[in-house]
Amino acid sequence: MIDEVFQRIFGSLPEVMVRAPGRVNLIGEHTDYNDGFVLPAAIDRAITYAGRRRADRLVRIYSDDFKASVDIDLDDIQKDSKNTWSNFLRGVSKFLEADGHRLTGADIAFGGDVPREAGLSSSAAVEVGATAFWNKLLGLGLDPVYAVKLARRAENEFVGVPCGIMDQFISALGHRDHALFLDCRDLTYRHVPLRAGVKIVVCNSGVKRALAQSEYEVRLKQCREAVAKIAATGRAVKSLRDVQLSDLQAARGTLDNLLWRRAHHVVSENQRVLEAVNVLENGELERFGELMNASHASLRDDYEVSCKELDTLVELARQQPGVLGARMTGAGFGGCTVNLVRAEAAKSFAQAVARGYENALGLKAEIYVCQASDGALISA
Ligand code: GLA
Repeated sequence: MIDEVFQRIFGSLPEVMVRAPGRVNLIGEHTDYNDGFVLPAAIDRAITYAGRRRADRLVRIYSDDFKASVDIDLDDIQKDSKNTWSNFLRGVSKFLEADGHRLTGADIAFGGDVPREAGLSSSAAVEVGATAFWNKLLGLGLDPVYAVKLARRAENEFVGVPCGIMDQFISALGHRDHALFLDCRDLTYRHVPLRAGVKIVVCNSGVKRALAQSEYEVRLKQCREAVAKIAATGRAVKSLRDVQLSDLQAARGTLDNLLWRRAHHVVSENQRVLEAVNVLENGELERFGELMNASHASLRDDYEVSCKELDTLVELARQQPGVLGARMTGAGFGGCTVNLVRAEAAKSFAQAVARGYENALGLKAEIYVCQASDGALISA
């Protein structure tokens, strides 16, 4: 427990603790940076911060996962190329101060059980956790959506990863036993109850997302290029969110096959999310599963962000009894799949998929049966 770690390192109990979960995305992949729709859930794996105030402007932070500490001078916050794990807190602290929130020094220990580089948003959990930590320690009273944007800004502008807003949003504002339907354009959202009787089962391929960042940037550019080309035909579109399937058909001549497929994924995925929310609210779980399956096919064939290991996990999943839907989740190129499985079948599902994966590829998959949980700023 992180409070015990804190006590061991800093010699007293912490003043405050906060917990920021990782996430799994049920549907709506590569739509957030296109102003589209997403439906993630926060999971019961989290990063926890424990800390107390200091009287000076020094932040001493201990990472329990890396078993290392660093000191940060709040008056001179620089990127750390060696202890890169500390950059999330550095970025968050820098931007809070830049926005006029005066921080004090602090002793901090943090760590958790969100697997790194597995597509379950451990980075977002670390950033949102850092924001929630300062909020609680200093009673900043941050507006939750402001806090989400700040955490994302730390990732985009300080750490240097051009992600969308989904991961920070769900880590901050997820609800226990609910998914979160988010409109990434205006940031309106609502919590959608998950049905009793089904489990979210996450299969970790164990493949680190090696290509993820460079290919992510390529996809982002391709989406912008597709928008510019469609707009040049006289349609009033600012992002792929504004494009309908019929517009896409009409613009077929102006987009080459590659750009057409990229745009087709995003446009069709947005439609799938809207339908998925609807059917989930109506308890039509079979249809929800079909939409997950269609999402995977689109990510694999049109968007080309899957890989052999993810496809294998998805195919194995679909052979198991009690499975409603299976797809890759997160940016792709490794990481995890998400599966909707009838509760009574979840255990045998996990065993069969792990066995099948080892037989097929000689690799070990970790399987997590997840409980949707509260975000960091829900009880703050
Ligand atoms: C990563 C990014 C998110 C989102 C997903 C793909 O997780 O951090 O913003 O773009 O990929 O849906």
